[in-house]
Amino acid sequence: MSDLQSTDLLALSPVIPVVVVESVDQAVPVARALAEGGVPVVELTLRTPVALDAIRAIAEEVPEVVIGAGTVTTPVLAKEAATAGAKFLVSPGATPTLLGAMRDTGLPFLPGTATVSEAIAVLETGHTAMKFFPAEASGGVKYLGSLPSVLPDARFCPTGGISLATAPSYLELRNVGCVGGSWLTPADALASGDWDRVTALAAATAALR
Ligand code: 3PG
Repeated sequence: MSDLQSTDLLALSPVIPVVVVESVDQAVPVARALAEGGVPVVELTLRTPVALDAIRAIAEEVPEVVIGAGTVTTPVLAKEAATAGAKFLVSPGATPTLLGAMRDTGLPFLPGTATVSEAIAVLETGHTAMKFFPAEASGGVKYLGSLPSVLPDARFCPTGGISLATAPSYLELRNVGCVGGSWLTPADALASGDWDRVTALAAATAALR
């Protein structure tokens, strides 16, 4: 998977599950449950103290899943995620410093953008694949659907407030490769170890396209 390009990230699955784990014990089972449902990719967010260990565990024990790190907000986190075994990086926003740090890891990455100017700043670096965040709060389908005429090269993974019900309207847009969302991995399902529920949610999601 070392030749994975940033644009390829948008084609791995109709949905990139955004996962928050509170315990490292949840990491391997949740990744396996998603893969069993047909979703072979995980964005493990760096929002809990166990996140880097969770990435390491999935990278080592669930090779069929492409494990990435989400909520990468600093150069240090970008480096730590790469060292832990992340295969890609996702950030909620993008500054020149953060873009440079993500690029320096050599990993494919999706920098976060929410405006035309932010998307242009990312395009100026030669990078065309990006996250649109927070999607619903930033104008949703209507906003994103306005961009192809002015930014024909930009490709997005909208994330933030999207559900199984609203995902299809995003996936119909010609500048959208996939969407991201946390609905596949509800906190209560992870806490109770209800992996069948995660697999069922993944299967419903995988069938979107
Ligand atoms: C993200 O980090 O992309 C979002 O927190 C996911 O948004 P959601 O929880 O509304 O799906």
